[in-house]
Amino acid sequence: MSSEGLSNLLHEERTFEPSEEFVAQANGTAELFERAEQDREAFWAEQARAYVQWETDFEKVLDWSEAPFAKWFLGGRLNACVNAVDRHVEAGHGDRVAIHWIGEPEDETRDITYAELHGMVQRAANALADLGVGEGDTVAIYLPMIPEAAVAMLACARLGAPHSVVFGGFSAEALHSRIDDAGAKVVITADGGYRRGKPSALKPAVDAALDHDDNPVQHVLVVQRTGQETDWTEGRDVWWHEALEAADETHEAQAFDAEHPLFILYTSGTTGKPKGIFHATGGYLVQTAYTNAIVHDVHPETDVYWCTADIGWVTGHSYIVYGPMTLGATQVMYEGTPDTPHQGRFWEIVQDAKVTILYTAPTAIRTFMKWGEDIPAKYDLSSLKLLGSVGEPINPEAWMWYRRVIGGDRTPIVDTWWQTETGAIMISPVPGVTPTRPGSAQHPIPGISALVVDDLGEPVEKGSGGYLVLTEPWPSMLRGIWGDPERYVDTYWSRFKDVYFAGDGAKLDEDGNIWVLGRVDDVMNVSGHRMSTAEIESALVSHPKVAEAAVVGATDDTTGQAICAFVILREEAVSEADDAGEGEDLVAELRNHVAREIGAIAKPRQIMVVPELPKTRSGKIMRRLLKDVAENREVGDVTTLADSSVMNLISEGMTKG
Ligand code: WTA
Repeated sequence: MSSEGLSNLLHEERTFEPSEEFVAQANGTAELFERAEQDREAFWAEQARAYVQWETDFEKVLDWSEAPFAKWFLGGRLNACVNAVDRHVEAGHGDRVAIHWIGEPEDETRDITYAELHGMVQRAANALADLGVGEGDTVAIYLPMIPEAAVAMLACARLGAPHSVVFGGFSAEALHSRIDDAGAKVVITADGGYRRGKPSALKPAVDAALDHDDNPVQHVLVVQRTGQETDWTEGRDVWWHEALEAADETHEAQAFDAEHPLFILYTSGTTGKPKGIFHATGGYLVQTAYTNAIVHDVHPETDVYWCTADIGWVTGHSYIVYGPMTLGATQVMYEGTPDTPHQGRFWEIVQDAKVTILYTAPTAIRTFMKWGEDIPAKYDLSSLKLLGSVGEPINPEAWMWYRRVIGGDRTPIVDTWWQTETGAIMISPVPGVTPTRPGSAQHPIPGISALVVDDLGEPVEKGSGGYLVLTEPWPSMLRGIWGDPERYVDTYWSRFKDVYFAGDGAKLDEDGNIWVLGRVDDVMNVSGHRMSTAEIESALVSHPKVAEAAVVGATDDTTGQAICAFVILREEAVSEADDAGEGEDLVAELRNHVAREIGAIAKPRQIMVVPELPKTRSGKIMRRLLKDVAENREVGDVTTLADSSVMNLISEGMTKG
């Protein structure tokens, strides 16, 4: 881990007590901590029965005998879609708005009640069944932020068909590898979506992704969103609206085992191949609903909740679809970007929809800071009662700005630490209980145990740093990596004995608060999105002109980290580029190549063409040194380099370029 991250300990002592008014209405109480402390499994059994409706009650809370392969709520049977939709209608809340959808084009909104959602998920489930989807079949979903994305996920869950949502910003190549790995039978997509005021096509990426031998996909269901011209493969492609119209309007949902896989979600790891993290139905639903209630403090009768994440990431899965809907909440879903058509769009939405709970990412907050506080000042934000942050460390300055400018110096802020793998929030203030500290995620929530340990796995003293580990299994934990149980054990359970290694560095402050500092492996966090250095390197070397590549994440004021690439060209390419003076074109070409291979979000901010890369004698690239260069620092200790003159060559190249 970078030693400067740890030695540079923050001395933050401000705390903010929740107001009496907030405490009086809060879902999360101090008693929860006591209950969980007394008997962890009994505590989780209580939450499971409080937040989820079981078709058949479970007999045993946890089976950890085959650790690290856990089973939770054994013998229990349930349907996730029934929990998220049907039961609210049955309880008489059919008229409650489930999704207040706001399109990017300004005059476009749709309010969908739970009763309407019920109608949609039943038809969608029948339409999928008509295309041959049944229990255990995987379905890929590649959609923009439209209500159909949530409907598609819920319809899959209704059928016991694990969904694999692929973020709409990923390229055809990335989609192809994910479809293949999961063996998806059907892909659900749209003709396109709106991006910064313009329709942008999605379907061509699906067509390209399926243009391979032995592709497992039989049908493509296409939502009509933009109405743009769309190529069609007869017999394979089906319009979503036509399929739903033709489908039966009622669908009898079946209950599945608590351990039945609910979804797969791919995330970047330390190798070039993304990991298919998969989650089981029961435990995942319990913990997402529980945390949405006690951390976001959602009260379904009164709150208007808004999570600004995209449904393609885990935050969208847990805190747009499964958590809030299992609670029966009313939420805002927004299709567009924060600056379309103007930089006050988020605050206009908060004002108009009277949003009470806002959950967003530090990158967004830092961007709003840059745009200036006079923009949010134009809107009435007094409906807000709680603010949340997720995805990356939030620096105290951004935290304070968020509280003062957006929260009117009044709202608690929950800085929530968790991962695709953990499925739900693990470390966070409980807002009616915890006095909050700017910049820290603070403590494990009731029912969760975490520690900061040193290299040997020993808990560190207060005031020191180390690695973040989770010491007990938890209900929404990943059940594994799809098709690769060994990689699951190696990645998470081998670094330290018997505990889960999160891959994050952390420090403990003098008051025992946990500060998560960021990844300690070769994973970058760019605007809260996980990117693997290896994945981008392998995209770069797949370009015919590139011989070798090394990628590092350099600190960036807005995005947290930015992707910086160092490439060595093949000899032919070097002379060609020199002859034609084409250095700049080549960099642009390489950036576009990465966008094609992975997606625009993976485009390096900087690509530096270098003659050599710094390597140890065993041939390992010394990223630490490259990071120094990328961050314009004095280059650090080079004594372990096989050839220490390499760094001079790189620095020279930098000054020349
Ligand atoms: C980082 C997103 C600091 C961390 C839910 C983690 C955070 C990775 C925080 C998971 C936070 C997430 N403070 N760092 N509050 N939340 N992270 O899988 O490095 O996309 O390991 O899940 O984001 O990213 P993922």
